[in-house]
Amino acid sequence: MASFIDPLIAFVSTNAWLAYLTIFLAALLEAVPVVGSVIPGSTIILALSALVPGGTAATVNVRNPYEGNAYAISEGQRLFDWYNCSGCHGLSGTGANGGPTLVGKTDRDAVLKQVRDGGGGMPAFKGSLSEKEIQDVASYVTDRIAKSGG
Ligand code: HEC
Repeated sequence: MASFIDPLIAFVSTNAWLAYLTIFLAALLEAVPVVGSVIPGSTIILALSALVPGGTAATVNVRNPYEGNAYAISEGQRLFDWYNCSGCHGLSGTGANGGPTLVGKTDRDAVLKQVRDGGGGMPAFKGSLSEKEIQDVASYVTDRIAKSGG
């Protein structure tokens, strides 16, 4: 097994461009299932490509970009209740005792401004909420309530 693979690796090492071309063509063929099935072993070629020295392994960033957001939203949801936004805007923000519905309020800057400064019968929250809390509650409004469809 090793004796068969060794010269192959040596060849691939000295002709990296050819290897990459082969990998590219193999990947291309595999993308078409019908043709791919006629070329068995193209997967092996792909596997060998990992052995090419100097070849940079593709690092895939698997971090969920929504992670931080989801945390902010759940914090915001807690604050929405604690600071009685729900008292005026309803438990799910769809409007209640004098507060308008927040469904469709995706303009983050406008939401931030309203929460900070209040107005129109709504108290300002910049004195009672930290900047981070204001950001969190805005995330809850713009990313959850606003998109809830009422
Ligand atoms: C005392 C009742 C009351 C409380 C408490 C309250 N709001 Fe309001 N909110 C209002 C009223 C009334 C308006 C409408 C203001 C206007 O029309 O100018 C409003 C407007 C808003 C708007 C703008 C809506 C639009 O139409 O653009 C947002 C966003 C908002 N509130 C979020 C919040 C959040 C978040 C909290 C909690 C931190 C909160 N509100 C707490 C009564 C309240």
